[in-house]
Amino acid sequence: MNVPATYTKGKEGKVVASDAALYLVAYLQSLKQVKLPGGTETPVFLYKKEEKKATTGAASAEPDGKSLFASSCQSCHQANGEGLPGAFPPLKGSSIVTGDNLELYVDIIMNGYDARPEYAAMAAVGTNMEWTEHEVAAIINYERTNWGNNGKKVTPEEIKKILDFIKLKAAK
Ligand code: HEC
Repeated sequence: MNVPATYTKGKEGKVVASDAALYLVAYLQSLKQVKLPGGTETPVFLYKKEEKKATTGAASAEPDGKSLFASSCQSCHQANGEGLPGAFPPLKGSSIVTGDNLELYVDIIMNGYDARPEYAAMAAVGTNMEWTEHEVAAIINYERTNWGNNGKKVTPEEIKKILDFIKLKAAK
């Protein structure tokens, strides 16, 4: 994994988890989340799958971009959208988030991204979550209108076309 430069002190190499680190992770994973003080909302676990509500004829409401961001993106890109230097890039002020290359943006959300050595790799969050154009549009609109970002809003129809195109390209 990539480690912020402040921890590597100029050295290069691979970070390998020791037995002690693996035991610590196993311990942390066994813990249960207690109620947080002051009514703070308990953050949902990364990639928590939402029960897909059975749609019974009536038009279902569009998903909420803010809660999708909180459960699937925030652990890396942070609630303030500023990321973490040396590990996760900021989405605040990102030209990919606010710019014109919507295909790249959708592709990153669905299939992950590993373009630069100074950052870690992003997993295929959207594909793992089995997201449709509705979730992808909601999350893009959330990121384009927060933290001072001011990008053009998208519609699920627009995103559907890009998703189809990306799938076609991957099948070739
Ligand atoms: C496990 C950590 C992780 C999660 C979760 C994650 N990302 Fe990322 N994301 C990254 C990393 C690392 C990069 C940079 C990869 C690179 O450039 O090599 C990145 C890059 C991006 C970029 C490109 C930004 C830029 O300006 O270069 C966008 C957009 C993005 N992520 C959106 C999202 C969205 C939306 C979600 C939630 C659906 C999400 N990410 C979830 C780690 C994560």
